[in-house]
Amino acid sequence: MLVFTVASQKGGVGKTTVALNASFALARRGWRTLVVDTDPAGAVGLSLTRRMAEAPGLAEYVGRTRALRDVMVQTKLRELSILPVGRVQVEDAMGFQNLLADGAVLGRFLAELQDRFDLVVFDTPSGFSGSTLGAMRVSRHVICPVQAEPIAARSAVRILEVIGAMRERGAHVGLLGFLVTMLQNGDASSMAVAEDLWRSLPKELILDTTVPRDGAFLEASAAGVPVGLLRRRAPPAALIFDQLAAELEARAGLTASREGQDEPIALVD
Ligand SMILES: Nc1ncnc2c1ncn2[C@@H]1O[C@H](COP(=O)(O)OP(=O)(O)OP(=O)(O)O)[C@@H](O)[C@H]1O
Ligand SMILES: [Mg+2]
Repeated sequence: MLVFTVASQKGGVGKTTVALNASFALARRGWRTLVVDTDPAGAVGLSLTRRMAEAPGLAEYVGRTRALRDVMVQTKLRELSILPVGRVQVEDAMGFQNLLADGAVLGRFLAELQDRFDLVVFDTPSGFSGSTLGAMRVSRHVICPVQAEPIAARSAVRILEVIGAMRERGAHVGLLGFLVTMLQNGDASSMAVAEDLWRSLPKELILDTTVPRDGAFLEASAAGVPVGLLRRRAPPAALIFDQLAAELEARAGLTASREGQDEPIALVD
């Protein structure tokens, strides 16, 4: 089982959008995938249905009031499950995050899931509070979305320091890559920021895939679906996540472990 965390210091850069849509694309490609919402504000649930936003989840599991099997949500796509964050009162958010911070609870959580999933993807709140630190500590790979605008690019490198400090204390986490999001092709300032990132960071730390700014993402979260399910003929934005999924597989070495399970699908019997 391979564990990813989507994290960034800055808010609103597209973490939840990336976590959900990349997980959907990976599940479509056959990986048994679980998306876990660790944001006390309930980001994943909010971008899906009202029922999901109000459902019990990680908080109840952590608080030991519900068993894991009672809080996981199986989606209509067989390979994709979701664990909403659950009900976290505003005044309890800090306590919830502190419980996750050292990674011990999430480590136990992952151990329970070992045989059921190929991939676990943690969505996190912005910044480096307990949820994010805990999720990063138990992950192998971090994906850091960077919005194509000046301040986001400047604060992006902070994640390298956080990862460095964790590795010094024995964690196995590494940055899989920065992912440029909300890129406005043709917009000079947006492209300038992206070019600045490409110049100033080691090339191998920047994912080749970029996520364009596209109204389809807003439409999809308003409709409560991944962008790939927005319409029968998925909008072009959905293709970006298929490309991202393929790039993540290659970078994380997932393709090799899938050999033998990946066979042609017969079109007719
Ligand atoms: N590529 C995109 N094009 C257009 N809109 C986008 C794109 N990605 C995300 N959005 C929209 O931008 C807003 C912020 O995105 P999202 O919630 O994914 O960011 P976030 O990093 O998870 O935010 P937070 O830090 O609050 O958790 C949402 O309304 C989302 O629908
Ligand atoms: Mg979010």
